[in-house]
This record gives sequence, C-alpha cells and structure tokens, in this order.
Amino acid sequence: MRRIGKILLTLNLFTVLLCSRAKADEGMWIPMLLKYNIEDMQKKGFRLTEEDLYSINNSSLKDAIVNIRGCTGEIVSDRGLMLTNHHCGLNQIQYHSSVENDYLRNGFWADSPDEELPSPNMEARIVVRIDDLTSEILGKLSENIDESERTRQIDSLKEQIISGLELENKLYAYSISEMFGGNMFLLFTYEVFKDVRLVGAPPSDIGKFGHETDNWIWPRHTGDFCMFRIYADRDNKPATYSSDNVPYRPKYHFKISLDGVGEGDFTFIYGFPGRTNEYVPSYALENVVNETNPRRIGFRTIRLNLMKEFMDQDDNVRIQYTAKRASVANSWKRWQGESLGLGRLDAVGKKKEFERRFAGWLNENDVSKKRYGHLLPEFQQLYSEIIPYNKMLDYYNEALMAVEIFTPIASFYSLISMYEKGMKDSTDYMSKQKELKAALELFYKNYHLPYDVKLFETIIKEFENNVIPADADMKALFAECPFSNMLLTMDLIDLDDDKAKAIKSDAMYRFYSSVFEEYDKIQPDLKRINGRLAVLQREYIAAVMKMDSGRIFYPDANSTLRVAYGKVAGFRPVDGVIYDYYTTLDGVMEKNSLGNKDYQVPERLITLWKNRDYGRYARKDGTMPVAFIATNHTTGGNSGSPLLNAKGELVGLNFDRCWESTMSDYMFDPDYCRNISVDIRYVLFII
Ligand code: ARG
Ligand code: GLU
Repeated sequence: MRRIGKILLTLNLFTVLLCSRAKADEGMWIPMLLKYNIEDMQKKGFRLTEEDLYSINNSSLKDAIVNIRGCTGEIVSDRGLMLTNHHCGLNQIQYHSSVENDYLRNGFWADSPDEELPSPNMEARIVVRIDDLTSEILGKLSENIDESERTRQIDSLKEQIISGLELENKLYAYSISEMFGGNMFLLFTYEVFKDVRLVGAPPSDIGKFGHETDNWIWPRHTGDFCMFRIYADRDNKPATYSSDNVPYRPKYHFKISLDGVGEGDFTFIYGFPGRTNEYVPSYALENVVNETNPRRIGFRTIRLNLMKEFMDQDDNVRIQYTAKRASVANSWKRWQGESLGLGRLDAVGKKKEFERRFAGWLNENDVSKKRYGHLLPEFQQLYSEIIPYNKMLDYYNEALMAVEIFTPIASFYSLISMYEKGMKDSTDYMSKQKELKAALELFYKNYHLPYDVKLFETIIKEFENNVIPADADMKALFAECPFSNMLLTMDLIDLDDDKAKAIKSDAMYRFYSSVFEEYDKIQPDLKRINGRLAVLQREYIAAVMKMDSGRIFYPDANSTLRVAYGKVAGFRPVDGVIYDYYTTLDGVMEKNSLGNKDYQVPERLITLWKNRDYGRYARKDGTMPVAFIATNHTTGGNSGSPLLNAKGELVGLNFDRCWESTMSDYMFDPDYCRNISVDIRYVLFII
C-alpha cells in the first residue's frame, strides 16, 4: 500500500503540473519534459516543436549539444566541427602552446585536417536519451527504512541498473541523476568521444578581450570562442585517439543564422548548467549573505591584492600567476555580485514571506502539518548549527590552502599517513607517488616563494592558538621548510623513516597538521548535518510542490542537459542607467583607447575596423556586432552553450552572466538577470 502511495505521489507531483509559471523566463528545463513548457515557448515566439528539441526516435537538436567537462559545446557541421568558448578550451590551447608557437598570444588555425591538434584529457559527451526511473527506484525501496538505509538501497539500485545497462551496451556511458533533491531519478545515456582535436582559436586579445576587468561585466566585447573537431572510428563510434579515426558524423548539427537578433526576439539555450540552489530556505540564504560570501570574499581579496603586487613587479611572476589569478578572481567577483543582488532583491525577506505562506498552508491541513511541520524549525536549527563548521571549512579551503606551500604539504600529509600504515609497497602508494611527482612539477613551475611568504604572514593573523605565532620570522620558517624547494621536495617523495621524521618536525608541516586535525575532527558532524539537511530539502521540495500544485517546477541545475528560454533584452542596472542589448566593434576600439592592458587589440583587427571591412557579417547599420544579452536563465557550465533563435538556428555562444544577475543561482529576477553571448557573426568574421 505504502509503495503504491509513493508511486502515486510522484505521478501527482511531476505529471499534472499546469499552466502558470512562477516568473517570466526563469527556469532550466529537462528536455524530455518540455511538453509542460512548449505552449508557453510557442506563445513567446518559438517556432519548433518539443520533438524538434528532444527525440529518441529521430534526430533532434539535443544530438548537437556536447558536454565538455564544466562547459558546453555545439556541433556545427556534418563533420563533427564543434564550437565552444575560448575560456573553455583555454587549457587545451595552453597545452599546445610554447614560446615558439604561442597560440595563446597569436591564436591557432588548422588549415587542413592534418594540422588539427589531438587534445588529450578532452572528452565530448553527447546525450543519447533520458529516461525517468523515479517509480522504478522509489518503488523498490523497502518500507519503513531510515535515511542511511534509504541511501544505501538507492545507491545499490543505481549500481545494479547501470551495470545491467553496461552489460547490454558497452559503448554508452550511463549516469542516474537525482532531481528535486532526490524526488525524481533520471537516467542519462551518453556517447563519450575521446578523440577531440583543436581546430582554431583567436588570439587572447580577442578571445579574452577585457580579461579580469570585464569578467562578469556588461557592456562586454569578448570574442570568447574556439573550435574543436570530434573524431570517431570508421563506424562513427567513439574511439580513443588514432590517426585512422575520421570526423564524427553527428545525427544533427546546427544551422547558423547571419540574421542577428533584435530586442524582444525569442531565444533559447541548450546546455549543461552546473549548480543552482533555488529551493533552499531563508536560513541557508542568510548564511550565504552574512557568513560564507563575506568571509570568502575577504580571504580572496587579500590574496588577489598580493598577487597583483608581485605580478606588477615582475613579468615572470605575471605569467606564472595569470591563470591562477583569473580563477581566484572569477568566484570572488561572482560572490560580490551575488551578495549585492540578493540584498537588492531582499531575497531573504522574500524567502521568509514564502515560508510564512508555507506555514499558513500547513496550518490549514492536519495531514500536511503532521508530515511537514518539522521542516522549517529543523532547517532553522541546522542552519544555525552549521555556521561554525562552515567557518572552519572556509578557513581550511580559502585561508590555509590559499597559502601555496600547503599544497605539497597536504599531499605529503596523506603520503606519510599511507607510509605509516605500512602501505609502502602497495600499488595505491606507488601510484600516489607518481601522481604527486607530476603534480609537483606543475606546481613549482608556477610557484613564487616571496609571494607565498608574504601571504602566509598576512593570513596567519586570522588563525588563533596555533603552533606558529603570528609574529614569527616567516622568511626563516619558509627557508627551513623543505617544501619551499622543488629539488628537496622531489627527493622526499621517496619516503623513508628518517625523511618522514624530518618532515614531521618541520614547523610549517606541524602548523598544517594542527589545522588539518581540527578540520578533520568536524567531518563526522558536518556529514551528519549535511545529511539531515539533504533529507529536509527533499521533503521541503515535495511539500512546496504539493502546496503550489498549479505551478510548473524545474529542478536545480546539476550538470545535466537543460533548456532555458527567454528573450533578447537590455536592462536598467541602476537608477538612471539603461543598458542596450548589444555591443559592437566600435566599443572594442573605445576600450582600447583607455590604455588599460586588458584592452589590447591585434593590429589587423584595427585595420579591418578602420576600413569597415566586415564582409557579410556587418549589421544593417554597417557596424560589426560583438555581443548581446538575453533573459535566459543560465549558470556556470552553460559556457559555450548555443544561443538559438526561434527557429533553432545558432545566433550566438553563451559565455557569461551580467554581474547584476549572478544571484540567479539562488533567486532569478527577470528585470536584472541577463546572460551574455558572443554574436555568431563576430565569431565567423574573426574566423
Ligand atoms: N565569468 C565567466 C565564467 O564564470 C568567465 C570566466 C573566465 N574568464 C575570466 N576572465 N576569468 O566562467
Ligand atoms: N562563464 C561561466 C561558465 O564558464 C558562465 C557564466 C555563468 O553564468 O556563471 O560556465
């Protein structure tokens, strides 16, 4: 009986959700469930059908969408040519670059297939199909089980299902993703291509134009794109790299439109958004706004300022720290925008208001009250309990581990613990040694000791009661520490009793151990709290869906395939300012004249601009389009996603969000949330 009840509950939750959407343009929708949105989409201008977007019998748009670890790409030719962002291909471009062939600086263009560069570590995943396993999984759970047993049963069911599928068809990769906090289970079947080759990339002065100054910022003028080609074996099946492989023949590839976009035009995005938290209670948001964001921003500000100081003094350091600084700065800037946006929206207040409505709804219904009455008080309790633990996490991740010398130290901490457990001759230990060696070589290539000493000197003041007093002689401490020296460190990888003893008596190592032990101690508590919060979140989402049964819900992003739709639109970031929806090459030159080194422009682009020599890629008014904004709901992972028009033609590549919109990971606001795309005409013009 209970089992049937569960199945009915899921059906009732996920199939009869009707017309009214919460807010215009909010949402990252599951392609196989677009039947609930299609009418709304078409009303807003969409000219295709749900079957055009997602079909398992015929080719559909989904067959041209590619997941490339943390980013999205799209196939644009019948020979596997794929576009994505420059910042998504950056590692590969850097990998192939050297002082003689500086593709970062000069760009790279393969003139023939022979010149395309095989890119190891690059994987292209394409969704073959999505299946709903919700009733299959929930229906098989035993009755009256506690949470840890539930988790155990779900994990083992998932494993059984996947290993069964792998027996049937080894060519595919499978993963079962939990939606709505674990109220729904979807099976994603992928084809995974491992032979992917770099075809082209613009010079960084185009692909990263604006660099850190413009990151997250509108108006934007970045030509953030690069090109790869997916290769397959002669049967068009995934294969590891081989010179015998041939360009992949996709089931579908995008048509490119040179018509551009105008204000109000319907657009949609198809891609792999990473993570959002739209359904958390007010208490979670309070912790983000009052605790974690300010603390992390604070730690990173110290780090970024110091990096800049050292980078400005020395060109070598500038090169060593460019990529590191970009990645530290990316979230640092996003968190600031997010906090401002949440504040301006009064997101906490809005959530509290919603929770009052929820409490009211519970009061009207005894059954619901009994079932869900504990949720809000328990949320409140746990989110307050977790505050000191989150603080410890931030101190470990953002303060201690920001000091770079603790990276090798942390590795040796775990190596020594394996050594002391007598694992010295195990394959695990040996592969750890090998990994460590490779990682440390990369680490020291970009390590600048004076910066690190100064950072530690600043950061240590944040720690209390530790083995190193804040006024110790930092230079001397680092000088004594073997990990400040690459050769000494490399030699230590081959541990013996004496080396282990020497390491363990080093002051920096002891400092690390003392903090790590504190950090390690909280893990069981943290696991308990987070485990319970996950349960509450699952129940809360189910309850909210019951309360608002007329609303269509979308699950939080979790790196699975989604469709978001909206329209091209400018916005008002602050009172008295109106942002236009597009930028042009004229703006690139305006910025170039400011003298900021983030705004350098290749000579040839200046010449083309002076001559207005844009070929067929110009706008009707003769200007060269560069970027545009729209109201599609996106997040990290959507980088490189195709920005498509009403007919499903490629008009741009998503690459960022406006600063004012970054709170959309917690709360979407149609008046402020805009995703930024590079205009496909600029991409083709540059190519
Ligand atoms: N903000 C964009 C994203 O979140 C671009 C990041 C890369 N660009 C940069 N200047 N750091 O990924
Ligand atoms: N640049 C981000 C990415 O790499 C997209 C920006 C965002 O929406 O967070 O996915």
